[in-house]
Amino acid sequence: MGNNYGTIFKISTFGESHGKGLGVVIDGCPPGIELDLDFIHHEMQRRKPGQSKITTQRKEEDEISIFSGVFEGKTTGTPIGIVIHNTDQKSQDYSHIAEKFRPSHADFTYHTKYGFRDYRGGGRSSARETAARVAAGAIAKLVLKKLGIQIEGCVTQIGAIQCPDFQKYDLSKAEENIVRCPDPQIAEKMIDLVKEVRKDGDSIGGVVSCVIKNCPAGLGEPVFDKFHAELGKAMLSINAAKGFQYGSGFSGVTMRGSEHNDLLIKKGNKIGTKTNYSGGIQGGITSGEDIYFDVAFKPVATIMRDQPSIDIHGNEVVVSGKGRHDPCVVPRAVPIVEAMAALVTLDFYLRNQSTNLSID
Ligand SMILES: Cc1cc2nc3c(=O)[nH]c(=O)nc-3n(C[C@H](O)[C@H](O)[C@H](O)COP(=O)(O)O)c2cc1C
Repeated sequence: MGNNYGTIFKISTFGESHGKGLGVVIDGCPPGIELDLDFIHHEMQRRKPGQSKITTQRKEEDEISIFSGVFEGKTTGTPIGIVIHNTDQKSQDYSHIAEKFRPSHADFTYHTKYGFRDYRGGGRSSARETAARVAAGAIAKLVLKKLGIQIEGCVTQIGAIQCPDFQKYDLSKAEENIVRCPDPQIAEKMIDLVKEVRKDGDSIGGVVSCVIKNCPAGLGEPVFDKFHAELGKAMLSINAAKGFQYGSGFSGVTMRGSEHNDLLIKKGNKIGTKTNYSGGIQGGITSGEDIYFDVAFKPVATIMRDQPSIDIHGNEVVVSGKGRHDPCVVPRAVPIVEAMAALVTLDFYLRNQSTNLSID
């Protein structure tokens, strides 16, 4: 029913925004991985609400409880069960939309599909579910770290304010400001814009850019499970994601083949490419170059304004903005993008190990 992701490193998430909690079951995690709980906690803190003055003021600590699959600090190879309790629900904040459809949220479509819906905080359509993905992604990152593979994301656009050529920056610097942009001056402008939008009772979108470094060549499966196809699916499964591009993406259409072709060259004892418009993937299979991509996020639906809509009975109604919401979710989406990239990369790595065996 679409609650699972992965072929070998498989996750199933469960839970709603205003239920008791949410969580994830991870199957297929290799045994013997030391679970660095501080690291997992750090990743959870990067996604959690209430982390800065430009995010929602909902206060969830997002502490994880590991129920299974770990013994003496190491993974055992059996299913890892993780639960995150919800602690700051204010369900009454949502009673005004119990029967009304919020424009551009998932209310109308969930109601149409299931006949009724948990309207509290958006239920299963809430991005609270992504806390479970970040927990699983943190474990995937720990496995990838052992393999020398690194994943780094940052914010490269809020509204019309852009931070071009993100790869030229030290991306760890992006964590030093609340908008997670690697250029501190551009970050200030972005922060001012988000504050202005919040004051206006409105919301604004932006772009998260991400790079997967030191990924070995040869990951990805023909034909339908190309590396970039899975990456695109994973990214577009994130709440409010509206667009995905990798490598030269949409900008490649204005170039000629003579400019765009990545010429093969020797890099030490390996073969690499002079340029990397392919974004580290050719024919759906990783080339060994950096895999880089962008994910566009919309201005989220909840705004602090009155909007005309329709209720479940077909009446014309007014939906007013109430509750605690993010005027811009893009900075909080960075760890989610990284987590999904980690899940895709590790799953392909493990698939490669099981399908690429020569039997002699
Ligand atoms: C980190 C994060 C936080 C979000 N918070 C809100 C929010 O406070 N209000 C809101 O309307 N949407 C929020 N969203 C987006 C909704 O979950 C999403 O727009 C909704 O489920 C409809 O799905 P769609 O936009 O993908 O079509 C958030 C998304 C992310 C990634």
